[in-house]
Amino acid sequence: MDFKEHITDKLTELTGLDRETVSAAMETPPDEKLGDLAFPCFPLAKVMRKAPPLIAQELASKLSADDLIDKVDAVGGYLNFFFNRSVFISDTVSAAMDAGNSWGSADIGRGKTVLVEYSSPNIAKPFHIGHLFSTAIGNSLARIYKFLGYDVQSLNHLGDWGTQFGKLICAYKRWGDPEIIEKDPINELLKIYVKFHEEAEKDPSLEDEAREYFKKLEDGDEEATSLWKHFRDLSLVEFNRVYDMLGVKFDSYNGEAFYSDKMDEVVRLLDEKGLLVESEGAKVVDLSDMDMPPCIILKSDGATIYATRDIAAALYRHRTYSFYKNIYVVGLPQSLHFRQIFETMRRAGWEWSKDCVHVGFGLVKLPGKNMSTRHGDVIFLEDVLNESIEKTRAIIEKNNSAVDDIDAVSKKIGIGAVLYTFLKNSREKDIVFSWDTMLDFDGESAPYCMYGYARGKSILRRAEGIDYSKADLSKAVSDDAYTLVKQLAVFGDAVRDAAEKNEPFYVTRYVTNLVKLFNKFYNTNPIMREDVPEDVKKARLAIVDAVCTVIRSALALLGIDVVESM
Ligand code: ARG
Repeated sequence: MDFKEHITDKLTELTGLDRETVSAAMETPPDEKLGDLAFPCFPLAKVMRKAPPLIAQELASKLSADDLIDKVDAVGGYLNFFFNRSVFISDTVSAAMDAGNSWGSADIGRGKTVLVEYSSPNIAKPFHIGHLFSTAIGNSLARIYKFLGYDVQSLNHLGDWGTQFGKLICAYKRWGDPEIIEKDPINELLKIYVKFHEEAEKDPSLEDEAREYFKKLEDGDEEATSLWKHFRDLSLVEFNRVYDMLGVKFDSYNGEAFYSDKMDEVVRLLDEKGLLVESEGAKVVDLSDMDMPPCIILKSDGATIYATRDIAAALYRHRTYSFYKNIYVVGLPQSLHFRQIFETMRRAGWEWSKDCVHVGFGLVKLPGKNMSTRHGDVIFLEDVLNESIEKTRAIIEKNNSAVDDIDAVSKKIGIGAVLYTFLKNSREKDIVFSWDTMLDFDGESAPYCMYGYARGKSILRRAEGIDYSKADLSKAVSDDAYTLVKQLAVFGDAVRDAAEKNEPFYVTRYVTNLVKLFNKFYNTNPIMREDVPEDVKKARLAIVDAVCTVIRSALALLGIDVVESM
């Protein structure tokens, strides 16, 4: 039985208000001591021509305790309801145990496709920390939407097109050593790319050569195309290594190049709508009435650019997926770009452009030289992950923890710690990386949450052979059990909030609090101790079991894999 529904029914009958209004007005009191659910009587004051405290008192006197409600208090203008704890714990824990891995999930997304574009690194360039931020958020959002029943497509909009590829081909033809490039592609390609810029300062004719190569590439010249493809393949091998470490998978790697032959249509469509104006030889969409710089569609040399490819991509996605939402997980510095293209698409009359969402995120700061900078100035993502894994291993060794497979465990915790760091705050906040915080087993961190899970699992292992599936949960009633089970009950709310705001941190915060309450619970509610009566033990074990499942589910939504012991 749903407590809120039950109370809503009663209040609707008593007040004569419509059910929706009553339900919407209901609040969770700021302090648990005030009750589990509150109804503010202020909106009734006008209709009933009475002071809210008086209304609260009258209503309270007409409401009596029942199976679900222990008591109703009138405090000021509020009616405060206290649930029957025994029923609440029994109902919630049994429902959670029955639902198992699907507790908190929903099917509100059935029949709707959500596209989550994330990561989107650039070919022949390092996968930098901002791309990792995007990967962490995007992967988590993809999982969250799936959990809510949406059909999710994960898209990697690779930066694999543009004039820089002309430069790269030019540099490769001059200074590239295939053998070295094969071994360490991204570093080497970056090196020759940098060399190109140095040399072009001295000899500007290189720029012309590069332009020609890009033109060849655009025209489908065989040699240029095969070099471009080679660079792309080599880079993808590197990127995929990182994705494998993170457990991230994409449904599509269609990058900018994929749209290179789909841009003429965009130019034509925008032109037909009369949106294109000449500006210094370029064709642009004037957005000055919205206080934005023009959206450049065609450059003076006729070459199309980033924005045009993005518009072509959006149109393609609309036609291919007929999406419910098209989400771009890209850093905040590109906000203006997205506002420009969304506005351009709106003016083109593409009604679906309202379903395109830029999900931005802040900057990542790496204090001092604490992070590995083995490769010079660029921080390589793989190094960050590996350093986290090594540091985790050192901590586990120092703690002398009994861990079966220290490699696998350090890897999961180390990677989890990095992901958690990206997902612990509202995404628009800048992040300062600190190993101490990330790997603080007692603080707000992945290791802390993962440890809570492992603790729970170790209790369950000790209880092997005890059948608690039909435990009488009324035996588990206590303050800490109640608070914990209340948190268990609101998992689905946290997931829905996360999706609604495209903010995985609702789930991060949720699971961290769940673990905090769980720690408190098993400190004050002994479970496997000898003096604990069998029926109490079973009831508490059932709670532990349900909580472990939810910790695992919630962490999975963040892309974090649990370990059974640590
Ligand atoms: N490759 C770009 C970069 O590294 C990010 C691409 C973002 N996605 C997009 N559809 N524009 O900055």
